Amino acid sequence: MCGIVGYIGPKDVVPVLLEGLKKLEYRGYDSAGVAVAGGGGIRLCRVRGKVAALEECLGRAPIEGAYGLGHTRWATHGCPSEANAHPHVDCTGGIVVVHNGIIENYLALKTKLKAEGHVFRTETDTEVIAHLVEKHFSGSLEEAVRAALAEMEGAFAVGAIAVKDPGRIVAAKMGPPLVIGLGDGETIVSSDINPILAHTSRVAFLEDREMAVIDASGPRFLDFKGAPVEKKIERISWSPLMVEKQGFKHFMLKEIYEQPQVIRDTLMGRISLDRGEVLLAETGIPAEVFRDVRKAVIIACGTSSHAGLIGKYFLESLAGIPADVEYASEYRYRDFILDKDALVIVISQSGETADTLAALRAAKGRAAATLAVTNAVSSSIARESRGVLYTHAGPEIGVAATKTFTAQLTALALVALGLAQAKGAGTKEDRLAVIAELQRIPHKVERILHRAGAIEDLAQQFMAFSHFLYLGRWVNYPVAMEGALKLKEISYIHAEAYAGGEMKHGPIALIDEKMPTMALIPRDRVYDKMRSNIAEIKARAGFVIAAADENDAALREHVDAVIPLPATPPLLTPFLAVVPLQLFAYQITAKRGADVDQPRTWPSP
Ligand code: M6R
Repeated sequence: MCGIVGYIGPKDVVPVLLEGLKKLEYRGYDSAGVAVAGGGGIRLCRVRGKVAALEECLGRAPIEGAYGLGHTRWATHGCPSEANAHPHVDCTGGIVVVHNGIIENYLALKTKLKAEGHVFRTETDTEVIAHLVEKHFSGSLEEAVRAALAEMEGAFAVGAIAVKDPGRIVAAKMGPPLVIGLGDGETIVSSDINPILAHTSRVAFLEDREMAVIDASGPRFLDFKGAPVEKKIERISWSPLMVEKQGFKHFMLKEIYEQPQVIRDTLMGRISLDRGEVLLAETGIPAEVFRDVRKAVIIACGTSSHAGLIGKYFLESLAGIPADVEYASEYRYRDFILDKDALVIVISQSGETADTLAALRAAKGRAAATLAVTNAVSSSIARESRGVLYTHAGPEIGVAATKTFTAQLTALALVALGLAQAKGAGTKEDRLAVIAELQRIPHKVERILHRAGAIEDLAQQFMAFSHFLYLGRWVNYPVAMEGALKLKEISYIHAEAYAGGEMKHGPIALIDEKMPTMALIPRDRVYDKMRSNIAEIKARAGFVIAAADENDAALREHVDAVIPLPATPPLLTPFLAVVPLQLFAYQITAKRGADVDQPRTWPSP
């Protein structure tokens, strides 16, 4: 992923672009650049490194212009370097482009353009766009971009400006997202809404094969053939404050602490206690469709797939329907067999993950319905699914997903309860009891957060270890996977997750005093089994930290440290067990001095 931002309006363009890029850094941060135009020229500044490095560079050598483009990069073609940083230019330097995505036929295009005399200066696929626009340019940037698009294959969100067609930004989308913010006398184009919030709440989301031609009077929307497109202008309810740290040292920490509210917000309006019902009409999927569903297929990537694995237990236990969980990156390439009575649930925080979107597209029309669980209003996955249940988590800026994970669990519990209701699985009293317990979760998460100091102490004790094992069973096995993912992603410590019962089939050989284990042992149906698993670890001199019921005094003698969890019904323990694991990963990373919100992308030069 990369982040794109563009601005035309009365404000000082460079600060607007820099602020926008900072909010897009979760999409990539190995190099960054801006180009500003005005007064008959275009000026560029590009650096290897983060937006902070770009800001420093611009502080040393300021550039000015009336409008411009910015980019923060996550390298795909060509290593992170100043030369490969966007914006990229044509042979003349008068045409500038930024791009998010991959031009699949760039090698063929590059060979052809080189033969025609174009001189390439970078290893990127993006540079071909600048030369293609140059080749087709005869005074109108809009027409040149459209002609260039006709030759490009792959996935791209593009922004372009040209000296010889001043006062105009042309933006186009085929795949990755592009949002246009319509302010008062100003327009901002961006990869997501976060940079737009400071300027306006009115936005239009470009669809695939759509362009926006923006000048001082605002945007015009067209398709790739040049036909005008009528766009719906939407109002976004997120506030600009939501994309600030608000006193926390890192976004990840702020987002961990937001979880009680996020769970409350995701439940809000979706439960009628009077009627004893979960309300899923807002998804747009009729109750009869839910009633006739006989199976679920959950598709997602990364943290969202871990939430999906827990959702599988919810669906099986609460609604009595079987569920499979699939990595979108695998599913999309399979000759998968999808039953007509299956509900496909796609989970994606961003709503834009390319593999998840591709898997959704492949599954569409082959199942009873597709339901998106996403945090991003009007994202591609939300738009392309038959129904959508939003996680009301607000913007997640830290790269490590935290609050969106617990919000996804909340939404999946609601889906499972809604399916149970539609199918008449279990009794109304059973469902009401689960709803009541779900409503108690936020307060219990608050209690865990109040004891965060003890987790910080543990992090201090364990920060020097190089390997960790995360162990769980049943509904907490996916929580172990999520805990291990958090630790390796941000701290670069090797962490592996295992289902407790699998230890004896080989991995137990790894255990010694250099490999501490984080074990999830709430009182549930596998409690005794987990106790046996940790006894085996202790017998091999392994150090065990146990996340366990706060009243489980007997366990304390058998482990080295305990993270107490408030009592909750076993099926809902993932909501609680994951929080200390997030805090543990955060604290270790902060103490080791790594960048919590933006894990490394490339070895240091
Ligand atoms: O936006 P998505 O939920 O589709 O993203 C999927 C993964 O890339 C994401 O969950 C990733 O694993 C987390 N950021 C890791 O913390």
